[in-house]
Amino acid sequence: MNHQLSDLTEEGLRAFVAEQLDRSRSRTVQLTDAVDTDDLVRQHSKLMSPLVWDYAHIGNQEELWLVRDVGGREPVRQDIDELYDAFMHARADRPTLPLLGPTETKAYVVEVRDKVLDVLDHVKLGGGRELVENAFAFGMIVQHEQQHDETMLATHQLRTGVPVLDAPEPPAGRRLARSEVLVPGGVFEMGTSVEPWALDNERPAHAVRVTPYVIDTAPVSNGDYLRFVVGGGYTDPKWWSEAGWAHVQKASLVAPRFWEQADGNWMRTRLGHRELLPLDEPVMHVCFYEAEAYAAWAGKRLPTEEEWEFAARFDPATGRTRRFPWGDESPGPQHANLGQRHLRPAPIGAYPAGASPLGVEQLIGDVWEWTSSDFKPYPGFRAFPYDEYSLVFFGNDYKMLKGGSFGTDEVVARSTFRNWDYPIRRQIFAGFRCARDPLPSELG
Ligand SMILES: [Fe+2]
Repeated sequence: MNHQLSDLTEEGLRAFVAEQLDRSRSRTVQLTDAVDTDDLVRQHSKLMSPLVWDYAHIGNQEELWLVRDVGGREPVRQDIDELYDAFMHARADRPTLPLLGPTETKAYVVEVRDKVLDVLDHVKLGGGRELVENAFAFGMIVQHEQQHDETMLATHQLRTGVPVLDAPEPPAGRRLARSEVLVPGGVFEMGTSVEPWALDNERPAHAVRVTPYVIDTAPVSNGDYLRFVVGGGYTDPKWWSEAGWAHVQKASLVAPRFWEQADGNWMRTRLGHRELLPLDEPVMHVCFYEAEAYAAWAGKRLPTEEEWEFAARFDPATGRTRRFPWGDESPGPQHANLGQRHLRPAPIGAYPAGASPLGVEQLIGDVWEWTSSDFKPYPGFRAFPYDEYSLVFFGNDYKMLKGGSFGTDEVVARSTFRNWDYPIRRQIFAGFRCARDPLPSELG
């Protein structure tokens, strides 16, 4: 997925869209076929919807935008719109709704998809209609399905029982020559005005000045984080913000979610596999407050969203802002651990080909990275195509996450992509890396 999308012929664009729709659907089917009917309709955690809700919601959004809006066709199931409106019902309440059952859901999403492929064959992509310029609405729906596929993977992580998902192991790690690098700072172009499928909150591109800072070359590992845990990090208020300390006590947090101690060993459970804590893997299932406390304990801080994106996109040799840490090329398996190719983060140092020019690694993929920033609109922000994607979430309630995880698809994991969540959330595939202000001696 790249901005060369606009160079495709209309036929080429249609073929590309069809392939992306198909790819996301294969994953949805894989994630839902992996469990039995009972597991599909059950709520595995109050934080999540039943998988069957996500499944029908994917179809319903596709119907609303592509069948009805873009295609101007008759509704397929207008009667269920309200059930699958994420704003009408909190996740915790969704199991009590008269939802479609698994068989009905599968038939519904197939019927919608058939109509969408017909719309794709007939609709003019562009011609001054913003919603379909470069097939934007199709791209938005592909990303929506992929984002729900990551959410469904998080539901799988919360599910108890025998493992049902399988994937090859990620590549081996390696020891990095340096644990942190000085980023010289400068002016870069944050966000984008040219990525055709970028969502409203990533737009427009705007110049941002960043002052010099030091950033970790890799995400914080389980081994690093374990030292904070066993060193009493969770019992000493001096590392925690006021809100963080209140939360850690109220929620009785003692370690990342899915970690436990057994017979003197630290274990963690991953998609039904209980295994020895892999020390060289990026830590995940920590909330923002835990990330912030660890950083303080390490004598550092979290990067701002601007610092994260600068590290991921700025090329000091040319002064140019690029699409990815490694350049403008779309992510390949050599660059980053994305797309549920491996069902875990890769060990530190596994992706030398994904390094930025300054040697910052694993910015894309593996784990989402908490930043210290709140969710704010960029200067010149315009809600498109609906207020409920971003506009209603702006403010101080959410913290920004960047870079995508092993569960995120490459069609979503742009360096400009902005994810946000409450600072207490731990079920997402999120970790972090640290940054700090440079010492006077480092600035020379
Ligand atoms: Fe959704």
